[in-house]
Amino acid sequence: MRSGLLLTLLCVVPIASFCQTHPSRDKNPQVRNPIEGGRIFQYYCAACHGADGQGNGQSATALKHAAPDLTVISQKNNAKFPYRQVKDTIEGTDPRLPAHDDRKMPVWGPIFHEVEADQDWGEVRLENVTRYVQSIQRK
Ligand code: HEC
Repeated sequence: MRSGLLLTLLCVVPIASFCQTHPSRDKNPQVRNPIEGGRIFQYYCAACHGADGQGNGQSATALKHAAPDLTVISQKNNAKFPYRQVKDTIEGTDPRLPAHDDRKMPVWGPIFHEVEADQDWGEVRLENVTRYVQSIQRK
């Protein structure tokens, strides 16, 4: 009995301390603020646009305006992906969009441009997440 408990402790404690000494999320900005497009999408966009981008995220039902299906942007645009326009939409700088307080979609530019350490990864993130959206277009 006791040795069983001891064995359990011996197994559990090293794992727990390993977790604590392992680089934490806060110390690793790439985990907290992912750079890779697909991860950015899951982290910042999937709640509304759905994990597959098809507009069925968890928050979608709570939204007054359903988040659109992002996999049909090309289809709606003569089979061409309007890269610049999509990027501007995400960043919130598309001049054709209504004033920002009318927008239902959060403006990501300032969030992505948050500087960590001494580097501004905002542009990289915008490019990567835009490319990711491009990569999930239906043919
Ligand atoms: C809070 C919910 C929400 C989140 C989070 C969100 N969106 Fe949206 N998104 C919307 C809504 C709603 C629209 C419809 C346009 C509008 O009302 O602003 C939209 C529109 C868009 C469009 C234009 C689609 C089209 O058909 O032209 C793109 C592109 C887009 N979102 C990408 C993203 C990306 C990339 C992210 C993550 C960085 C993201 N969205 C996060 C709600 C959201």
